[in-house]
Amino acid sequence: MAPLRNLAVRDLETLVHPYTNLAALRETGPLIIERGQGVFVYDSEGKAYIEGMAGLWCTALGYGNEELVEAAATQMRKLSFSHLFGAKSHDPAIELAERLKEIAPVPTSKVFFCSSGSEELEEFIRKEEPETVAAFIAEPVMGAGGVIVPPKTYFQEVMKVCRAYDVYMISDEVICGFGRLGTMFGCAALGFEPHSITVAKALTSAYVPMAALTVPEPMYQAMLDESRKIGTFGHGFTYSGHPVAAAVALKALDIYARERIAEQAARKAPHFQARLAALGKHPLVGEARGLGLVGAVELVADKRSKRSFEAKAGVGARAVRYAEQEGLIVRFLAGDTLSICPPLIIAPAEIDELFDRLGRALDRTLDWVKRERLMEA
Ligand SMILES: Cc1ncc(COP(=O)(O)O)c(C=O)c1O
Repeated sequence: MAPLRNLAVRDLETLVHPYTNLAALRETGPLIIERGQGVFVYDSEGKAYIEGMAGLWCTALGYGNEELVEAAATQMRKLSFSHLFGAKSHDPAIELAERLKEIAPVPTSKVFFCSSGSEELEEFIRKEEPETVAAFIAEPVMGAGGVIVPPKTYFQEVMKVCRAYDVYMISDEVICGFGRLGTMFGCAALGFEPHSITVAKALTSAYVPMAALTVPEPMYQAMLDESRKIGTFGHGFTYSGHPVAAAVALKALDIYARERIAEQAARKAPHFQARLAALGKHPLVGEARGLGLVGAVELVADKRSKRSFEAKAGVGARAVRYAEQEGLIVRFLAGDTLSICPPLIIAPAEIDELFDRLGRALDRTLDWVKRERLMEA
């Protein structure tokens, strides 16, 4: 058994953290999250935080949802694992594929399951000669790339080009799917119809990893032809269509439908966006932007010219730290952009509390920036 020592010390001695400033971590130590309930998570000291990033844009239904826990436990007791390789199958994967076909915003022939959101067709495309590249993949609103909301006509133009050159358009719904933009899928919010979609994260509200790609009929026919030629469709993952993940996803889809999560998100969005836009007046904020229940504020050294801080000043990281001290988890992306993406179940009063805390964190960041002479007085 591990000795009963401080968890933070044990962390520093044992873990390599993904997407983390490993040098800064040695100074600040990790934030150790112990439990969660609703939109709140609690650290190992018992302090509560609003999870303003829904984990990594994924815990749409919040924490401690007993229905999802029960769905996982029931499936684990019945059949904890079975795979889909070599023509094996199981009930939860079949039922989930049926449900995704039903709710997909595009005509779908089949569903291919993965266990993470970046396993898309990318590898295939890279292997092919460029002139044979057949697909264009994009998020309706780019999330981790900085919460970039495209102009209204952007995707209509993209679709025109795709149709003209017979290129498939795949909408990456890994963040935007299941209500984030106030519609079940992000492509509907942006007014375009792709050929195919990818989903992950909120598909199971991140209770267990699960991802899927919808396959249109012509693509399936091409896979079928190749399979006839070479004797197999030689692609898959151990956990493709994991029965426990599929059972949790089915329960999550029940909840999205029963609780009208996307409609509720659309109802809450104007309030969320108004509070976000108000932060645009803050002296540190060059731009506040967003759509639905996702947003970002970009911190700048000069509000008029929108000049950025030097990356090494670490302004975004400092703001995240102040937010945590205020009891709010947000994330900074490239260019000192703070992203906000709370669980979709967030209540209007909790939206207010989130932005109150973020406002106080920005005030404290501004004080620090002035003390450090990182911007003109
Ligand atoms: C839009 C989008 N697609 C794909 C991924 C990759 O997902 P994963 O980390 O599960 O591979 C992410 C991760 O944040 C994402 O935001």
